[in-house]
Amino acid sequence: MSNDAAQGKRIPYIRLRNIKKSFGHVIALDGIDLDVYPGEVMALVGDNGAGKSTLIKIISGVLNPDEGELSLNGKTFKHLTPSRAIELGISTVYQDLALVDCLDVASNIFLGREPLKACFFVDKKRMNRESEELLRRLKVSIPSVTTPVEFLSGGQRQGVAVARSINLQGRMIIFDEPTAAMGVSESARVLELIRSLGDEGFAVLVISHNLHHVFTIADRICVIRNGRLVKDFRTENTNPDQVVGFITGSNRYSGEYTEESITAWR
Ligand SMILES: Nc1ncnc2c1ncn2[C@@H]1O[C@H](COP(=O)(O)OP(=O)(O)O)[C@@H](O)[C@H]1O
Ligand SMILES: [Mg+2]
Repeated sequence: MSNDAAQGKRIPYIRLRNIKKSFGHVIALDGIDLDVYPGEVMALVGDNGAGKSTLIKIISGVLNPDEGELSLNGKTFKHLTPSRAIELGISTVYQDLALVDCLDVASNIFLGREPLKACFFVDKKRMNRESEELLRRLKVSIPSVTTPVEFLSGGQRQGVAVARSINLQGRMIIFDEPTAAMGVSESARVLELIRSLGDEGFAVLVISHNLHHVFTIADRICVIRNGRLVKDFRTENTNPDQVVGFITGSNRYSGEYTEESITAWR
């Protein structure tokens, strides 16, 4: 047991310290310190170009930071690789979802790690059975695990992508704008799914432009502006107006929750 655990402190799933990243003259990240804990939904919010996508690319091993370090399970890394990140339980559900349209649901959930029968044949029955169990647990309803994913709605595809992440033994699940281009009821189902992952003990990091959604699901809201983490709120201690103030840099805070401020910012 680590010192932190012995003292009864919560231990973050991932700890970032002084993460910096530039693209030529553009400073995308300017010294980010951030901890994400198991069992919480953490929303990362910020205006376009604030550095959100760059940060999750560093966490998922797609980009190397110029400076700083990442710690997981007591181990410190200068950078990760995509396969290293997956081994460490970090799984990212990207906007384009990276599903293979012509393959069925179960094949997408098991893509690249199909169970074998007699060391040779893909055990399709087992894939279907385990996919059904996983989707039932996640309360994702689809016509059948043998339906090609091209016939699924955006929300159902999101559900299949999450099932795939969990099947990869993901313990930290990252979402980049999960409800973009989704209808109201479909968004509601995806938000419920994300919330349930937090409740099941996953560390969840979600990027969203929709503050209503953020306030519905997040335990914690971190605001990033010009590559710096400018505020780390517990959701119950803030409101959309105040969050908008930190996103835009005006920090104006009327003390009231107003619809106009959200609409004005979006
Ligand atoms: N591959 C890249 N090459 C050059 N500049 C980039 C690249 N990726 C991001 N940037 C710049 O870094 C900054 C942060 O971008 P990004 O992380 O995509 O922001 P966000 O996701 O918050 O909108 C922006 O100024 C963006 O133009
Ligand atoms: Mg982005």
